[in-house]
Amino acid sequence: MASIVHIADLEHEGLQDYVGLTDVALRKNTEQSNGLYIAESSKVIERALHAGHRPRSVLLQEQWLSAIEPLLSDFPECTVFVGSSELIEQITGFDVHRGALASMERPTLPNPADLLAAATRVVVLEDIVDHTNVGAIFRAVAGLGADAVFVTPRCADPLYRRSVRVSMGTVLQVPWTRLPEWTDARELLHDAGFHIAALALAEDAVTLRSFVLNPPHKVALVLGSEGDGLSRQALEVADTVVTIPMLHGVDSLNVASASAVALYALNS
Ligand SMILES: C[S@@+](CC[C@H](N)C(=O)[O-])C[C@H]1O[C@@H](n2cnc3c(N)ncnc32)[C@H](O)[C@@H]1O
Repeated sequence: MASIVHIADLEHEGLQDYVGLTDVALRKNTEQSNGLYIAESSKVIERALHAGHRPRSVLLQEQWLSAIEPLLSDFPECTVFVGSSELIEQITGFDVHRGALASMERPTLPNPADLLAAATRVVVLEDIVDHTNVGAIFRAVAGLGADAVFVTPRCADPLYRRSVRVSMGTVLQVPWTRLPEWTDARELLHDAGFHIAALALAEDAVTLRSFVLNPPHKVALVLGSEGDGLSRQALEVADTVVTIPMLHGVDSLNVASASAVALYALNS
């Protein structure tokens, strides 16, 4: 059984995992270098445990203890910090109304080649900046069907709290990993038999409708960043550039919407 520690101040080892949760720059640093991520709400914590991830600690108000305690029966080394809402807000920087927060051990990411070996449809996220978009794409992947997600070296962290929340916990369910830079990534994808389909707004692109009429057996759908879209390198490694024609002078879709439209069309 996890040990329970009632906290009255900030001086407890382990509480630093929860400091400044709204400060994206700070968290980017501390979470990756300390090998942790934050799961928010009992539902997401349950999903994380179900995915085989290990909890370091949990931070909650007394009223949520009975819901969380049974989930932790296999983790005697986990500490449950119980504190007032004021103290929790002082530590985290926001009003935690979703019940509990858990600091989870960041899992080791799978080898890209292993993920590709078991897949026929994958989504590649190139340098997406916004954690909300990353989360929404994972939700689309889980709901509409792709076997895995690959993120480029500079893409926002799928395990950042906001990504996890917006994804409805699907970042803990959909297999994902980081890709190397494009020259190596292209080789990995091609060696595994994937056709690289870059989603972009290019005049000479194939429309999504015609691409899905007779799609290749293994497809990697590549999506670009919110501002500039796909890099020149991504467009160069693409086997096909695919576009979703826009009406009424609208120049593009939000990247998560584009992923949903493309996955739906590809799987219909
Ligand atoms: C907001 S868009 C980027 C817009 C950027 N100005 C451009 O020209 O690509 C972000 C990503 O969503 C995808 N996307 C959005 N709308 C699309 C469309 N109509 N056709 C194909 N891909 C689209 C692309 O992968 C794009 O890189």
